[in-house]
Amino acid sequence: MRLTDDLRKQLRVTVDYTNMTDKYLGEKGISQKTLEAHKKLAKEAHAYVTSNRGKDELFMGWTELPYNQDEIVADILETAKGIRKKFEYFVVLGIGGSALGPSMAFSALCHLHYNDLPKSKRKGPKFYVEDNVDPVRMKELLDVIDVKKTCFNVISKSGATSETMTQYLIVSDLLKKAGCDLKEHLVFTTDAARGNLVKISKELGGVKSFVLGDGVGGRFSELSPVGLLPAAVLGIDIKLLLKGAAYMDKLCKAPDLKKNPALVSATLQYIAMKEGKNIGVMMPYSENLRYLSDWYAQLWAESLGKNVTLSGEKCNVGQTPVKALGVTDQHSQVQLYTEGPYDKVVTFLSVGSYKEKSPIPHGCENIPDVGFLGGHTMEELIQAENKATAYALTKAGRLNYTVNVPEINEFTLGELLYYFELQTAYAGAMLNIDTFNQPGVEAGKKATFALLGKPGYEGQRKELDNAAPDPAYIV
Ligand code: PA5
Repeated sequence: MRLTDDLRKQLRVTVDYTNMTDKYLGEKGISQKTLEAHKKLAKEAHAYVTSNRGKDELFMGWTELPYNQDEIVADILETAKGIRKKFEYFVVLGIGGSALGPSMAFSALCHLHYNDLPKSKRKGPKFYVEDNVDPVRMKELLDVIDVKKTCFNVISKSGATSETMTQYLIVSDLLKKAGCDLKEHLVFTTDAARGNLVKISKELGGVKSFVLGDGVGGRFSELSPVGLLPAAVLGIDIKLLLKGAAYMDKLCKAPDLKKNPALVSATLQYIAMKEGKNIGVMMPYSENLRYLSDWYAQLWAESLGKNVTLSGEKCNVGQTPVKALGVTDQHSQVQLYTEGPYDKVVTFLSVGSYKEKSPIPHGCENIPDVGFLGGHTMEELIQAENKATAYALTKAGRLNYTVNVPEINEFTLGELLYYFELQTAYAGAMLNIDTFNQPGVEAGKKATFALLGKPGYEGQRKELDNAAPDPAYIV
């Protein structure tokens, strides 16, 4: 794709927040006066994020990923080419921020039944992201791949995550038993110096490794080698992905709500949260964007769910992300969204032009309930249902806004990722919290160490044993 200024404009992702305002929602909506009253806070949040761009010590290295990876991108493309030539399967071993991005880009930009396509119709090897330690899933993955023909991309910043390292132990054992040279079948994406994968790589004689920079946390890492290598293996144009992110960055330069899409949506979400809208529903009208909701759920939940402000005061903030899919969940969740408690903001992701239109043939003319569909396209139907749901929610006084995606491709996906990352950073700054840490995740990780007998966790093991369920309460 040759990017001209005109094409960039055509592919511009926009935010329509009409249905958040009192103009359409009456007293349930956000008034211009309320928005004006938050202008100063929004400006400060913008200044905070802008002045801390690229600072590794604040985990804000992700802001520069669209600009500072020329050499890395070249290396990734070369490595991906080799992997495509040599392997029939590519498996990502990772969890959380090390897995959700690769899954999301795969489903957004590849054929929805990619792995079922014949080799000649795929741009790369069959692709799997293993982000669980469900023993059934592991065994059944091994039923459909041949480790001798598989490249495993182990993605872990710490190299100490039990889930990922368990998977590593299993596949490395299988590779050894199959007589394979481990380093030929592995690619690591990890911290530059710290972390166990660095040690393992040395022991194995140098595994091809990519660095996840100090200032890039897992959930902000999709535009780093964490996401770029799997994407490149799949034949996704990663340069275009980064260009889309850079374009959104440009669109969000101004501290002005009217000119900065990420800032206006962060401010609206902040106001909604303060008014008790504790649930944020993400509802893409696109199968390709289905897993964007999973990626976003981690970004929003892990970044904003905090119990202390930057100034050290106690707080309990955040908004619970809920994943919904248009049109599928119109027939399950939308009843609640329209008539249940006023505790939600619904974000629609609407697609301007789908890559397939799928005309609906004429037929059943004598049955009006069915006949009217003929002559339209499925694209028209899904778009009409999207519009109709937003209308119904608005009529019912429910806060909702729409992120318009002209079409789904590498450029617009890059825009979307950067937009949501910036929105999260602005919202975190408004809430005055550390957006980039995750102490709440650590507690569960440590308790797992204790339960499985990791040295140093004996005290916690005792505590866990003492907290065993009381039979009196088991029925
Ligand atoms: O966003 C995050 O920081 C987490 O979800 C991590 O990505 C996840 O816990 C995996 O950690 P690691 O990359 O160290 O294996």
